[in-house]
Amino acid sequence: MNYLMKNYKPLPISFEYGKGCYLYSGKGAKYFDAISGIGVCGLGHSNNQITKVISSQSKKLLHVSNLFNIKNQEQLAKKICKISKMDSAFFCNSGSEANETAIKLARLHANNKKIKNPKIIMFDKSWHGRTIATLSATGNKAVRKGFEPVINGFLECEFNNIKSVKQAINKNNISAIMIEIVQGEGGIRVANKDFIKNIREITEKKDILLIVDEVQSGMGRTGKWFSYQNYNIKPDIVTCAKGLGNGVPIGACLGNKKVSKLFTPGSHGSTFGGNPLVCAVSSKVIDLIQRDNLNANSKMIGKYIISQLKLKTSKMDVVKEVRGLGLMIGIEIKKQNSNIVKDCFEKGLILNLTSGNVIRLLPPLIITKNQANFIIKKLCEVLKNY
Ligand SMILES: Cc1ncc(COP(=O)(O)O)c(C=O)c1O
Repeated sequence: MNYLMKNYKPLPISFEYGKGCYLYSGKGAKYFDAISGIGVCGLGHSNNQITKVISSQSKKLLHVSNLFNIKNQEQLAKKICKISKMDSAFFCNSGSEANETAIKLARLHANNKKIKNPKIIMFDKSWHGRTIATLSATGNKAVRKGFEPVINGFLECEFNNIKSVKQAINKNNISAIMIEIVQGEGGIRVANKDFIKNIREITEKKDILLIVDEVQSGMGRTGKWFSYQNYNIKPDIVTCAKGLGNGVPIGACLGNKKVSKLFTPGSHGSTFGGNPLVCAVSSKVIDLIQRDNLNANSKMIGKYIISQLKLKTSKMDVVKEVRGLGLMIGIEIKKQNSNIVKDCFEKGLILNLTSGNVIRLLPPLIITKNQANFIIKKLCEVLKNY
C-alpha cells in the first residue's frame, strides 16, 4: 500500500546519494544527472561548501519568523539585488509563491492607479506554478483542466508575437505582463530579441509592470545571472527559485524602486520565508557561482552542446530542432511521448521530456566539456534508433 497521493508518476528507481553531476542508486549504478532536479542543483549534488553551511547554520539557528530582523535574510537581499540590479527582495519557499507575490504586486499597482477590471498578460505554453492564481496565469491548458474555475484577471497572448500583445493592451486595462523569456515547461522556447525589446518599450511607456519569471532560467542557467540580462533590459519584477537554493526550498520576488513601495507592513508575508538556514545557503550559492565563474561556464558549455547536437542530429529525421540558451537546452523531436527518457536512463543519462516532445537538458552549471561530450554521445546513440 502506497500512502502517497497519486499526483506523480515516478520512475521505479530511487537514489541513495549524489556527488557533483552524478546520482547513485542503492545498487551502486552511476547516472549523469542532466536535469539537476529540474534545474535546482546547479552546483551539483552534495556540494561540500553547501553542506558545511547547512551544518554550521543548523547548529546556530534554523528559524525565528519574520517578527524579528534576520541578518542572513538582509545579507541575501543585498546580494541578490546586486546581481539582478533590483532594489528590494521578498523571500518565500517556491517558484509558485514567488509568482503569487508578483501577481499580488501587480494587483496593488492596478488598485493604486484605480484601474477597473485590471488584467495581466501571460503567454501560450507558459508555466508559472500550480497554486490557483499561478495556474490561472499558466498557458498550459492540460494542467488547468479539472481545476476550473481559474481566477479572473489574466489574458493570454501569443509568445513572440508583439502584435497580439499590442492588440490586448489596446482593448483591455493591462496592469502587468508576466513572461518567461526562455519558456521551460513549454518546451525551451526562447523569446526573440525584438519581441522583448518591444515589450519593455510598451510597458515603460504605459506604466505596465513587466514581471520576468526566472524561476527556471535564473541563477546562471542561461549564461547570465538572469535570462533578461541577455536582452539588456531591466524588468520591474523578477521571480526566482529553483537554482537559488541548490536544493533547499527558497523563492524570491524582486522589485525595482517603483515596485518596492507597493507592500506595506502586514500586506504580505510567509512563516518560513527567508529563514536563517535557507538564506545562509542561498548566499553561499551566489558566492560559489561568482567565485567559480559558473555563468561563463554555462554560456560556453551550453553553446558547445547546442552546436554539437545541431551538427550530429542534422541528418536524423526524428529531430525537428535543437535550441536553447546557456544550459537550458531543448531538442524537439517529431514523436510524442517516446521512450527516449527511459532509453537514456538505461545508458546512465538522466534527462526529461517536456511538452510531450521536447527533450530537456538542464545539467548542473559545474559541468565540464568531457561531461558534455558524454551527454552528446549517449543522447545521439539513443536518437539514432528513432
Ligand atoms: C518558470 C517557472 N515558474 C514557476 C514554476 C513553479 O515553481 P515551483 O514548482 O517551485 O512552485 C516553475 C516550475 O517548474 C517554472 O518552471
